[in-house]
Amino acid sequence: MGKNILTHFYGQEQKLGTTYENPVPFMRIISTSEPDFMRHVLQQNHRNYKKGKSYDVLKLVLGNGLVTSNGKFWQKQRRLAQPAFHKKNLEDLFNVMGATASEYFEELETKRGTEIDIAREMMAVTAKIALKSLFSDNTEEDLNAVYNSMTAVQRYVSDLLNNPLLRIPFSINGRKKQFKKDMGVLNEVVLKAIANRRKSKEKHPDLLQMMMDATYEDSNEQMNDQQLMDEMITMFSAGHETSANALAWTIHLLAKHPEIVAKMRAEIQAVVGDNLPGFQNIRQLAYIRQVIDEGMRLYPPVWGISRTALGDDEYRGVKIKKDDVVFCLIYNAHHREDLYENAKEFNPDRFTTEKVKAMPKMSYLPFGGGPRLCIGNMFALMEMQLILVGLLQRFDFELVKGQNIDMEALVTLRPRYGIKMNLK
Ligand code: HEM
Repeated sequence: MGKNILTHFYGQEQKLGTTYENPVPFMRIISTSEPDFMRHVLQQNHRNYKKGKSYDVLKLVLGNGLVTSNGKFWQKQRRLAQPAFHKKNLEDLFNVMGATASEYFEELETKRGTEIDIAREMMAVTAKIALKSLFSDNTEEDLNAVYNSMTAVQRYVSDLLNNPLLRIPFSINGRKKQFKKDMGVLNEVVLKAIANRRKSKEKHPDLLQMMMDATYEDSNEQMNDQQLMDEMITMFSAGHETSANALAWTIHLLAKHPEIVAKMRAEIQAVVGDNLPGFQNIRQLAYIRQVIDEGMRLYPPVWGISRTALGDDEYRGVKIKKDDVVFCLIYNAHHREDLYENAKEFNPDRFTTEKVKAMPKMSYLPFGGGPRLCIGNMFALMEMQLILVGLLQRFDFELVKGQNIDMEALVTLRPRYGIKMNLK
């Protein structure tokens, strides 16, 4: 299980069925890939569940932001943050995204004819977009400081999530100390950005401004600095690695399917020609969206989500006791033959509007489901469409032969050794 948690859970399902208990000491974990069971936990009876224990480790970095908080506090924050992702604001954010992506495509031009790691490249561009969408007016130096410290603290937390026993050696070998130092830098830069913005008379079209100006329904007050900082760090962390991995895996699939690339290029030509898409074009790029949906089916960036029961519950004869954990296995659901014919095959035609309507609820859930559905789902989809269009307009990608491409399921599902490609 420690070696490859994803194949472990997938293998167990083949042996034990779609809902089974994991033999873990001192706690009861029920794993499931049953769409209806997941719907019960994430939506229909969601009030009986809170985020699972693993989210406590994430709190070391994300504080009490949207991803890690629970109950009334979470609900208050969600109501406050939701309008930032409404259509009008997304349109503003899309413009920031377009400008940042264009700069990145220029940078990538310099690497034409060389071997690149597409996973690393996608991490760089989505991080740039996330940072500019959060803090549009920060200096390059500050954005780099956020990026570097964030990368370091995320690595620390990932290592701890993978192996909780590392806490002890980390306190002795200096890694905990380094983590605290990196968190100090991260907090300092984000707090400075908040303070500058509070002083500034100018309004900026970014998430910091939207979240800063939002008011709580009951008190009409705004978020304090600490809470704003937690939400900014949460958005950055939740928002860039997920999209980066989805893009990297999708481009790797596309490199093996030139016929799908040709169909995408035909759509791009018909909708925008050689220009980057505008906000109004996104809906017209329907096939590109199907490709992304299918990419996230085969490689869901968030491969599983867990919930802890607050009280006893029952789902179709499965007894769930208070404190039991229900682990919703998104990866497994997306690979079920009874839900997806030829489930291993990359086939974007599964995601035409009619076919999506006919899918059982919660059989496809890359963004989770119920009230805690990803708040950034529309942001992520338009970002991924924009990047794919820009890349296909300019470049061809060829997989470097003989490399080992493997999945590593940390907080997100990433390529363990990267994905090397010749950029043409
Ligand atoms: C392909 C990209 C993305 C994927 C696959 C993804 C996936 C998810 C999933 C599965 C959840 C639910 C977790 C759970 O229920 O335990 C979630 C929550 C969340 N995501 Fe995303 N996400 C993506 C992009 C983004 C972006 C771009 C942002 C922000 C700009 C974002 C911000 C959040 C936040 C704040 C939450 C917590 C929402 C809440 O509990 O109220 N995500 N995401």
